[in-house]
Amino acid sequence: MIKYQAGILADPVPPLARHLFFTLESKEHLAAALRRLALIVDGDATVIGFGKSLLQALNVQLDKLRVFPAMSAEGIDIPSTQHALWCWLRGDDRGELLHRTDALIAALAPALKVVQITESFRYKTGHDLTGYEDGTENPVDQAAVDAAIDSDGLGGSYAAIQHWVHDLKSFKGLPQEEQDHIFGRRLSDNEEIDDAPESAHVKRTAMEDFEPEAFVVRRSMPYIDGDEAGLVFLSFAKTLDFFEMQLQRMMGLDDGIVDGLFRFSRPTTGGYYWCPPIHQGQLKLSTVLLTEL
Ligand code: HEM
Repeated sequence: MIKYQAGILADPVPPLARHLFFTLESKEHLAAALRRLALIVDGDATVIGFGKSLLQALNVQLDKLRVFPAMSAEGIDIPSTQHALWCWLRGDDRGELLHRTDALIAALAPALKVVQITESFRYKTGHDLTGYEDGTENPVDQAAVDAAIDSDGLGGSYAAIQHWVHDLKSFKGLPQEEQDHIFGRRLSDNEEIDDAPESAHVKRTAMEDFEPEAFVVRRSMPYIDGDEAGLVFLSFAKTLDFFEMQLQRMMGLDDGIVDGLFRFSRPTTGGYYWCPPIHQGQLKLSTVLLTEL
């Protein structure tokens, strides 16, 4: 039976995680590297996503996968930092995650080289570092499968990832009501605020308000890197269009109203990845490699 990578829908996010980003160094060694990868990736503890350039190197055309687009609006720059391959290592022990990182890097060499590693973690029960609960409106159970997993074509799921760097000092310096209005939810009880301004994040992104309804499953986790802190935003969906529609509305491209989040946070990276299905407990690579495992 063909299945999706279970880590995508595991809820809540794990206590600890690592995001690894790889570039392609040698096309000649790619197929062998991916075969080694398939043997050590179960899709649960480690979730894998392929970027467009990796599929291009394999001569595979996936219509729904594209490169993350750089975008701009007045005073807002959304960068694209697309990579060939992304791994999301999920766990609860930093040492074990480090050893798993090393095993993945070794399996993928010399075809792919790691160029960025971010350690992330669960804050409280799944909160952003601002203190607000993240993921409340995520679809659950069958609705989560319907939202995140592509039932046509090659199957799998489409991931959108961005690092958002927070200015927590400036956010925490705002009056409590203003902080609540940035999100559109109260910090005290996580209730949605009916009369929040139109710029409130949950009003900008309300999934039912798009045409068609733009359901995604979010699995974002905070990160700290030296004196930098923020959120690794991560969403899975059956199409990348839904993430992009939400982001464009956040930027005010629909109606000029910019999401309050931009007052204290900015994205510094952006990538799109296709997460292949799992077959018999291993990554199903027959869709991308002409020769079966
Ligand atoms: C600084 C970065 C971000 C932070 C701190 C953040 C945090 C939050 C929080 C606290 C909520 C309310 C609770 C919940 O339903 O999860 C929320 C909702 C949501 N966010 Fe974000 N978010 C960020 C970026 C984004 C981005 C980039 C997108 C998509 C482009 C996005 C899409 C959504 C969606 C779809 C919802 C649920 C809206 C609904 O009620 O239907 N978020 N976010």
